[in-house]
Amino acid sequence: MSNRMSAELAEHSDTSPTDQEVATRKASSIELHSLHKRFGADAVALDGVDLSIHAGEFFTLLGPSGCGKTTLLRILAGLEAPDQGTLMVGDKELTEVPPHRRSVNTVFQSYALFPHLSVRDNLAFGLKMRGLPAAERDARVDEIAAFIKLGDLVERRVDQLSGGQRQRIALARALVCEPDVLLLDEPLSALDAGLRSQLQVELQRLQKRLGMTFVFVTHDQDEAMVMSDRIAVLDSGNIQQVGAPSEVYERPANAFVARFMGHDNLFPILARDGLRVQSDLGWLELHKHAGQGDAGDCLLVRPETLEIGDVVPEGYNRLAGVVQERLYRGSRIEYVLEVNGQSLMVVASNLGQQVHQAGDAVTISVCPEDLVTVAA
Ligand SMILES: Nc1ncnc2c1ncn2[C@@H]1O[C@H](COP(=O)(O)OP(=O)(O)OP(=O)(O)O)[C@@H](O)[C@H]1O
Ligand SMILES: [Mg+2]
Repeated sequence: MSNRMSAELAEHSDTSPTDQEVATRKASSIELHSLHKRFGADAVALDGVDLSIHAGEFFTLLGPSGCGKTTLLRILAGLEAPDQGTLMVGDKELTEVPPHRRSVNTVFQSYALFPHLSVRDNLAFGLKMRGLPAAERDARVDEIAAFIKLGDLVERRVDQLSGGQRQRIALARALVCEPDVLLLDEPLSALDAGLRSQLQVELQRLQKRLGMTFVFVTHDQDEAMVMSDRIAVLDSGNIQQVGAPSEVYERPANAFVARFMGHDNLFPILARDGLRVQSDLGWLELHKHAGQGDAGDCLLVRPETLEIGDVVPEGYNRLAGVVQERLYRGSRIEYVLEVNGQSLMVVASNLGQQVHQAGDAVTISVCPEDLVTVAA
């Protein structure tokens, strides 16, 4: 039995691996330095990317369509060569190493399974290519199929499986060769919302248990936040920010990241006076940790930090608004308010709160601690 899997299975038996055994499982760090890639004269896919991904980390590349996520993943897999720059996995320089000589496997969005072959033959394919004897192949396949809880399906043909089952087989096929690094290109985007959120949690747990380095690609910020240790936000082949989900969400580096993380309440700063900033909402008091943003930067007001009512003392970060729209979302209620001619979103929990109607005049309280300034 393979080392990683046996250590993993031992976790569920009486003889759990010691901390030292867990620590010696293989995982690789990744260092990208100044990667450039263009397709033809004007399609710049990567525009000088520097990244350090830690060993054993769940790292996500997040960004809009066409920002270079797949190109970056293909360069890591060796399926694309960078025009410039270097790539290290562990202590090995991989820039010139062909794909089959890298300890890196990819789960593609399209699954890329052989539909007419059985699950067993699909899972055994990579092991066969590596020349493993049949008995060992069978043992590894049974082991990984049990691990992803599809052990009873190994003799079925792939075209007789559901989308979610195929997705798990694609994942198992990439895991069975025990790569140091697993690359996943939007592997969940074809699944329905329920299955998707279930697999998000499963995948994240699996990664933590195996201790492999995962590089995951998505354009869905919620998915990225749920699963990742750290996120890199990309735009037009450039990294805009790297950080833990809470950092990227709560302290976006600039307006692009803020918008991409779903923040609508961004207001250009017109003037700053000490800890007070003026925007189209009026003057608001900041906390000293809010950032140094000045005229030309933006003020970010997160909708879930606003409160409808007189929570802060009079004369102090209160705004007067009128309810334009109320959106019922089950666990929460979203209000679109008009404040000084600006549209302001407020998210309130749906927990015995007073419900406001369109047309109601309301007071909104803004705590200085919840405001941040971001670069434009
Ligand atoms: N083989 C190619 N030939 C020409 N242009 C390409 C090629 N592959 C990618 N590009 C271009 O490079 C840019 C980055 O593409 P990439 O596939 O990396 O984006 P992505 O972030 O994965 O997008 P999506 O979320 O839509 O999958 C795009 O402008 C794309 O059109
Ligand atoms: Mg892509």
